[in-house]
Amino acid sequence: MRLDKLLANMGYGSRKEVKGLLKTGAIKVNGKAVKDAKLHVNPETDEVSVHGEIIEYKEFIYLMMNKPQGVISATEDHQHETVVDLLEIDDAIYNPFPVGRLDKDTEGLLLLTNDGQLAHQLLSPKKHVPKTYFATINMKVTEEDVEAFRKGVTLDDGYVTKPAELTILKSGESSEIELTIVEGKFHQVKRMFESRGKKVTYLKRISMGALPLDEELELGEYRELTEEELSALKDKKE
Ligand code: URA
Repeated sequence: MRLDKLLANMGYGSRKEVKGLLKTGAIKVNGKAVKDAKLHVNPETDEVSVHGEIIEYKEFIYLMMNKPQGVISATEDHQHETVVDLLEIDDAIYNPFPVGRLDKDTEGLLLLTNDGQLAHQLLSPKKHVPKTYFATINMKVTEEDVEAFRKGVTLDDGYVTKPAELTILKSGESSEIELTIVEGKFHQVKRMFESRGKKVTYLKRISMGALPLDEELELGEYRELTEEELSALKDKKE
């Protein structure tokens, strides 16, 4: 890979800006100052440093976030804070984007990556990647609801949902449930309960495909996926 491309990918500016940086002599490859932007380097074996700091090159980044309420699942928003605003600069330089959307008032598992192929696979309707949510509901959830969700319910726009698995954790004036769906229509969980005349009062995603939310993560915190988590996620998409 060309040195200027590697440095640009790592967030050291545009190719033009990187050229300027090279001219200053700040870049060393295997300990020797280099000014040639076109020099080919092997990110696996060559040691590249900027102002004496060795850079660890990686093409893709995979982050698991425990999304808090009040932030938007987008890379940019004119009015509100986005999930990308919560990232440290060292992670943001990879330009990760959220894989799918959680509503502003939904909490929980959100994957962010710059790996477009993986994101596409996880979001493709054909792949039926299961997503599990924990929710509280404003009234009693019954076995009839379980059966209705298993068969599929008709949403306000006439769409009939695919079979979904509803587990009642606590049923009463306010109920607690887990719901697994294999699609991702706009506001799907809320609209499924609306079709039963019920309202979601709290919603949190607790898993996506083979990836459960790390409950150690506080709201707004995130971490990189482990190798195991990443390969489990990739295996499941095939
Ligand atoms: N379903 C919803 O209604 N909202 C979400 O954020 C995710 C699924």
